[in-house]
Amino acid sequence: MTSAAYLSGLFSLDGRVAVVTGGSSGIGRAITEALARAGASVVVVARGKEALEATCAQLAELGCRAGWVSADLSRRDGVRAAAEEAAGVFGEPDILVNSAGVNLRPPFSELSDEDWDLTLALNLQAPHLLSRRFGPGMAERGFGRIIHISSQQAHRAFVRSGAYGVSKGALESLARSQAEEWSPHGVTANTLVPGFVMTPLNARLSSDPEKVAALAARTMVGRNGLAEDFAGAAVFLASRASGYVTGQSLFVDGGFSVH
Ligand SMILES: NC(=O)c1ccc[n+]([C@@H]2O[C@H](COP(=O)([O-])OP(=O)(O)OC[C@H]3O[C@@H](n4cnc5c(N)ncnc54)[C@H](OP(=O)(O)O)[C@@H]3O)[C@@H](O)[C@H]2O)c1
Repeated sequence: MTSAAYLSGLFSLDGRVAVVTGGSSGIGRAITEALARAGASVVVVARGKEALEATCAQLAELGCRAGWVSADLSRRDGVRAAAEEAAGVFGEPDILVNSAGVNLRPPFSELSDEDWDLTLALNLQAPHLLSRRFGPGMAERGFGRIIHISSQQAHRAFVRSGAYGVSKGALESLARSQAEEWSPHGVTANTLVPGFVMTPLNARLSSDPEKVAALAARTMVGRNGLAEDFAGAAVFLASRASGYVTGQSLFVDGGFSVH
């Protein structure tokens, strides 16, 4: 067997359908491209149509198959409608990536009900509702991959973790519960845990060179994360190769968490 055929047997996503929330920016955008270039047909879900269209146009230029659905995933009805529409693009998904997220940073004493609700709705409830919609079908077909994106703040409190840290801690618990339920049927559920990644989500922090340097110094690799750093880990968790990996949190953080 050639190395290409061997690698393809392990990692190829040919014939797979993926849904990636938040796939029009940052980490989700990089994961979308990685899955698509590994062979999957990818449906990107987010609110802004311009970025969705641009993402799909760039993927088409690379010879990839991609479609998009515009939806507000912080609303239950938005998630439900998005799930149905997404399944209508290339069929029921084999891979679900939950990357859409929000990080509001008010101190607890100033945290409004609205900020709390939005954080929990987008970061935790949407991943649950989408998994509940797609997970049973994956289990019935005997193959599925659910990938959540959490945060260092699921594990430790720093730079105002607030409601965000709470939502991400629960998201990793959700992955473990889903793994318990669906892994016997070929559906794995895992979480990617970033460190500090230079994306629009933390534009305010990224624009402060001193803070950026201080965060980079906390890694072992010596730099902050880039969205592209998630490509390989996402393809691995989406592929056949990771069939015996479930309920896990995979830190893609340059050693931030072990320093
Ligand atoms: N960047 C980091 O350092 C870092 C660290 C740890 C964890 N993470 C996590 O990684 C994930 C991706 O973060 P990122 O840095 O790549 O963020 P980003 O560049 O800001 O992208 C966020 C994505 O989510 C979509 N989105 C936001 N609100 C939405 C809503 N209500 N409904 C549907 N889609 C929505 C955005 O598109 P629209 O605005 O057009 O809807 C965009 O596609 C998040 O879950 C985040 O918590 C990031």
